[in-house]
Amino acid sequence: MSEVIIEPLGRAPLMETASNLSGLRFTINEWKRAGHSIALVPTMGNLHDGHISLLNRARDIADRTVLSIFVNPIQFGRGEDYDKYPSTLAEDKNKLEKYGLDLLFTPDLKQLYPGGTAIDTRINVPGLSDMLCGKSRPEHFSGVATVVSKLLINVQPDAALFGEKDYQQLLVIKRMVHDLCMPVEVIGMPVVREPDGLAISSRNAYLTKEERKKAPAIFKILKTAADQLRYRKKRMDEIEKEAVTKLEETGFRPEYVSIRRTEDLRGPSADDTQLSILLAAWLGSARLIDNVKVRLSASAAEKIISPLPSRGEGKRVIPSPT
Ligand code: PAJ
Repeated sequence: MSEVIIEPLGRAPLMETASNLSGLRFTINEWKRAGHSIALVPTMGNLHDGHISLLNRARDIADRTVLSIFVNPIQFGRGEDYDKYPSTLAEDKNKLEKYGLDLLFTPDLKQLYPGGTAIDTRINVPGLSDMLCGKSRPEHFSGVATVVSKLLINVQPDAALFGEKDYQQLLVIKRMVHDLCMPVEVIGMPVVREPDGLAISSRNAYLTKEERKKAPAIFKILKTAADQLRYRKKRMDEIEKEAVTKLEETGFRPEYVSIRRTEDLRGPSADDTQLSILLAAWLGSARLIDNVKVRLSASAAEKIISPLPSRGEGKRVIPSPT
């Protein structure tokens, strides 16, 4: 009897790679002709379990998966870590082969910025991009929105997956897709953490051994703040202030700790029950961000809200990173 080899349902056996737009479009066109659904995971590489969680979900929901690796210069500010951003392409490829990906897209700068990076055509998502992280990184979200739109236009995915670790980024992309009528579903995935609670991030590699030991305090402080919010222990402005003080005492340089509406990151009002606490803080040369969601009972919301934090502002202690 001849042996029947069964491949996973509807899946190509080997990962394809494309480093230019024409190669990418060729494969995408073939898939579209065959009626396959496509999910995209945009990344900057140096893949870790956070990225893999997006890939796993992408594989669950679509016939074909595309993951892009591109360190996008225009989302980095002057003096930020663009030049030292970790690049581990060989290891990334091994991981992707192991977890199963259909197409890896690794464009170089010329592919995505044919006229150079001093481009005039940019996607801006005002409002959402200017608050929180946008205050110290004024060009950042426009850089993200611009590169993600280039990827969406060329990959034409049915769904694109992003992590809630970068919660503000996720909302900026959702708003962009909505406002530009892009035919793609944007899916947010939960924060993946180290066993000690630290949100996994490529930038954790910038921490020294001592700093790495301190870093999980971020999540502890967020959880304490979440409990205070949930159990109506303090007013919101007091909770934010206390979290900032604790971060400072632990050796961080906090940028902001802010309680916002989960839906649109505006300052909460008395009847809001879906809130998020968002935080950015420096530890040594690493800028770390994290957030937790808090669901309030309606009566709790009324009690802790007063006095209202001004819309769009949280507790901010240093204006911008150097
Ligand atoms: P990067 O930092 O490589 O992250 C790629 C995706 O992985 C983002 O959607 C991010 O939110 C998600 N991610 C990172 N760490 C995570 C974690 N611990 N848990 C869950 N998801 C996590 O974010 C970017 O790249 C870029 O800004 C990009 C969107 C690719 C545009 O250049």
